[in-house]
Amino acid sequence: MFEGFQPFLGALERAGELRRISHPLSPNLEITELADRCMKMPGGGPALLIERPAGFEIPVAINCFGSEKRMGIALGVGSVQEIADELDKTLHFEIPRGLKNKIAALAKLGRFAKAAPKTVSKAACQAQTVQGTDLDLTKLPVLKCWPMDAGPFITLPMVFTHDPATGKRNVGMYRIQIYDERTTGMHWQMHKSGAEHERLARERRQRIEACIVLGSDPACMFSAVAPLPPGIDEMLFAGYLRKHPVEMVKAKTVNLSVPADAEIVIEGLIDPDEKRIEGPFGDHTGYYSMPEPFPVFHAQCITMRENPVYPATIVGVPPMEDAYIGKAIERIFLPLIRLTLPEIVDINLPVEACFHNMAFVSIKKRFPGHAFKVMNALWGLGQLTFSKFIFVFEHDVNVHDLRDVLFRIGANCDPQRDSLLVRGPVDHLDHAVSQIGFGGKIGFDCTHKLPAEGYPREWPPLIQMDNETKTKIDAIWSQLNL
Ligand SMILES: Cc1cc2nc3c(=O)[nH]c(=O)nc-3n(C[C@H](O)[C@H](O)[C@H](O)COP(=O)(O)O)c2cc1C
Repeated sequence: MFEGFQPFLGALERAGELRRISHPLSPNLEITELADRCMKMPGGGPALLIERPAGFEIPVAINCFGSEKRMGIALGVGSVQEIADELDKTLHFEIPRGLKNKIAALAKLGRFAKAAPKTVSKAACQAQTVQGTDLDLTKLPVLKCWPMDAGPFITLPMVFTHDPATGKRNVGMYRIQIYDERTTGMHWQMHKSGAEHERLARERRQRIEACIVLGSDPACMFSAVAPLPPGIDEMLFAGYLRKHPVEMVKAKTVNLSVPADAEIVIEGLIDPDEKRIEGPFGDHTGYYSMPEPFPVFHAQCITMRENPVYPATIVGVPPMEDAYIGKAIERIFLPLIRLTLPEIVDINLPVEACFHNMAFVSIKKRFPGHAFKVMNALWGLGQLTFSKFIFVFEHDVNVHDLRDVLFRIGANCDPQRDSLLVRGPVDHLDHAVSQIGFGGKIGFDCTHKLPAEGYPREWPPLIQMDNETKTKIDAIWSQLNL
């Protein structure tokens, strides 16, 4: 757990994971070029702290989540798999025998109870307040990431809103185009919780109060990206991850609370009936997202720490920093997916295919059509709905090994019999489909087929050596100097 974003940067520096850059690089493309070169290094390259971006007072931190090691540091673990294992145990909680074991088990469950956010009255994020004519978003070192981008975009924000119907909080990471000193875009895509808040607010003829929060304990930032079901509080999840409640403070001008440890908070309003063209923007897909109307955010107050740091990322042709965030989500959410689909052994959303565009899934196959059941379930499960290509394999396939994956696709799949073509919602960013957010998806059953699946012969056995022979060769292997 960190007391904010800057202590996290300190931990990265001590771990040799952060480089300070004193060259006055411009947020206009130059920081992108440097960061992109780092992100393309094997393992993700270093995190960067641009100490004096040209023309700005506030330093820029970028690529802070961009390696397996940094993702672990961010979430306070050696490897994110530790969180997945712990979550798996908690979800499969069985009342143990014996008082001592019962108390130990209760303490474990108590981790959820103790994770609830807490309200504080004083906060570092409100050390400075800027309002009225002084309010100027163009003073923030916001990156223009790519040459054809429509302008500068905040790329690593946490957007806080309340559900107009239930009053429940949502926090999502939605990019923010800076239009001028006080006006921005609000790029919540049609399938995301923010867009649902917009629809509900329109029905009720209400404006939406929103806070754009920059920098906090990295567990909070990660939680804004995590695909939690609507109504599950991201700040509760962050509290679970950091093993301490997130301290929240009331915003100055809107009825929302924000993490007290934040670097910068922009408070403002959205009229659900006001839209403005947003984009183009060089996106996760590796292509530009083309201009489209999105809601407009009117800033009315900025609060800041004494000496804030501006957190940023860039997205583009993979792999990028988001690869490591996405892989952490894949690992941590697998136990939750398994609650609905216990037959799933493992899942790989390949970085190169923009994550949920493609899924390799291994299952413990039990009955005819089992692979199709899994595909249909995934197409209805949270953001996995957006998977355009699902490949389902036998339980023994290593879905992270492309050689194994391609071998089994080639060997086991008859595309005519084993494919399932459907239509439904796809990623809002997908430019390949004819209609934004709606298109085709295909699943391939690469498991061994059963007679009841229209395969009348016996499925041939996979070639494997017997153990006796293996042991014999093992015994002489080192002497052979091969
Ligand atoms: C760097 C980064 C930028 C993102 N930008 C957007 C965005 O502009 N719009 C969007 O809808 N989702 C964006 N996402 C994905 C959402 O943050 C993610 O789907 C999240 O789960 C949405 O939360 P929600 O379900 O509460 O809406 C981005 C993710 C990352 C890692």
